[in-house]
Amino acid sequence: MILPIMAYGQPVLKRVASPIDQEMDGLSGLIDDMWETMYNAKGIGLAAPQIGRSIRLFVVDTIQIEDMQEEGIKQVFINADVVEESGDFWSYEEGCLSIPKINEDVERPEQITLRYLDGGFVQHVRTFEGMNARVIQHEYDHIDGILFTDLLKPLKRRLLSRKLDNIRKGKIEADYKMKFKL
Ligand code: NI
Repeated sequence: MILPIMAYGQPVLKRVASPIDQEMDGLSGLIDDMWETMYNAKGIGLAAPQIGRSIRLFVVDTIQIEDMQEEGIKQVFINADVVEESGDFWSYEEGCLSIPKINEDVERPEQITLRYLDGGFVQHVRTFEGMNARVIQHEYDHIDGILFTDLLKPLKRRLLSRKLDNIRKGKIEADYKMKFKL
């Protein structure tokens, strides 16, 4: 089922999400819905707060990215924790399904090591790099209530404030269903 995507301004996007209990009802259906919602919106990652659920769950599919340097991943991340981030910071233009039509350069470290459970609740500790790391860092931020626009320099953010206000008020056309804070 395709779910509406929470737009910038929705309080759930600013909340630190809670860990998931393995016994949680409807988890596998929710994960299926997140994949469907992400692909429908042509995304490469989606975090649970973006569909209104304040839980530590996100999905990533970088296999879709055309000019990947490293091998792409398609992975469910449950209760992820950052073990460490390392490497040089590099800049790349990011976007977000909750913030349509805004793309800005964001600096992030090259590598991230995460401890997480996969869709079958099997624990992994794995290091990701390049675009895989970047998409994971972006989605991980979502479960900590951080948006990529929070990482921009204050001047840049000020320049975007009108556009962000319009998204908050629902004055935007997205190619997928969104839910605004009205
Ligand atoms: Ni995002």
